[in-house]
Amino acid sequence: MVGAAVMILMASVAVVVAGTSSGAAAESAATLTAVHSFQDLTFAGHKDGCRKCHLKEHRSWSRTPHAKALDKLEGDDANNPECLECHTTGYGEPSGFTSADDTPELAGVTCEACHGAGSAYRDKETMKDHDASVAAGLQMPNETTCLGCHNDRSPNFAGAFDYEAMKEEGVHDIKQ
Ligand code: HEC
Ligand code: HEC
Ligand code: HEC
Ligand code: HEC
Repeated sequence: MVGAAVMILMASVAVVVAGTSSGAAAESAATLTAVHSFQDLTFAGHKDGCRKCHLKEHRSWSRTPHAKALDKLEGDDANNPECLECHTTGYGEPSGFTSADDTPELAGVTCEACHGAGSAYRDKETMKDHDASVAAGLQMPNETTCLGCHNDRSPNFAGAFDYEAMKEEGVHDIKQ
């Protein structure tokens, strides 16, 4: 699911680069596209990867059920691939979650489960430039992102998903 989203993203990169008016931004986006194929993107982790620059989002996210989603899996389910897929970050991908001991920063639904693997966009220069960040793999989540997990394959699916209400309740503080 995440892989497919990234493939679509890569397909749109050419459009992003072509549509960028700033020469410098276009150049950095083009460079990133050339250097980072989808396979090169790796997960950075919510603390090491994002916290120092996004304290407000990190603090408010920590208080949501997403941050503790792995803890909800009891007994054998804590190692059950059919549950880990939605209760962790990047499960099944090369640099994604493997176990709570080996990849503690990817336990639960962390930043990169919604925003994409951060290795190529998380440096300051890229982050300040929206188009360059997107070209480097940043995803700005929308309802489709949520429905990747909030669906009837979940044994505890709550039913119809109200995006605006759920965004208000459970993501992190969002700037208006
Ligand atoms: C070196 C500091 C730094 C790190 C590390 C960092 N960011 Fe950012 N990020 C920024 C800056 C600066 C901006 C642009 C100003 C803002 O929106 O705060 C930004 C913007 C963003 C945006 C908004 C993009 C837009 O165009 O609207 C998202 C989403 C984001 N960062 C997510 C992340 C995630 C997820 C991580 C971890 C994988 C991360 N950032 C790591 C500095 C950083
Ligand atoms: C469950 C999905 C989800 C998770 C997990 C998540 N975000 Fe977000 N994030 C969103 C959504 C949705 C938006 C708003 C997008 C929009 O503008 O419509 C957003 C917006 C942002 C922005 C843009 C500025 C703002 O506040 O609107 C930043 C920065 C950001 N997220 C950083 C992070 C960081 C850092 C983490 C981890 C601590 C994180 N996000 C975890 C879904 C998520
Ligand atoms: C990687 C899978 C995944 C993605 C993507 C995801 N969620 Fe979730 N979400 C979960 C899991 C798992 C839980 C249950 C966590 C728990 O109960 O500890 C949850 C719980 C929630 C809750 C708490 C209320 C409830 O129904 O339990 C809200 C609110 C929520 N998600 C909103 C969102 C929104 C909004 C998005 C998209 C911007 C989103 N989620 C994206 C997996 C995901
Ligand atoms: C398709 C994604 C997905 C899969 C697969 C999945 N879950 Fe979840 N799980 C969720 C979401 C999303 C929620 C939050 C409930 C909601 O809003 O629908 C959740 C919530 C939960 C909760 C909290 C329920 C509550 O009422 O607080 C438990 C426990 C749970 N899941 C266990 C499991 C187990 C055990 C498995 C494997 C057999 C599993 N989940 C597989 C997405 C998933």
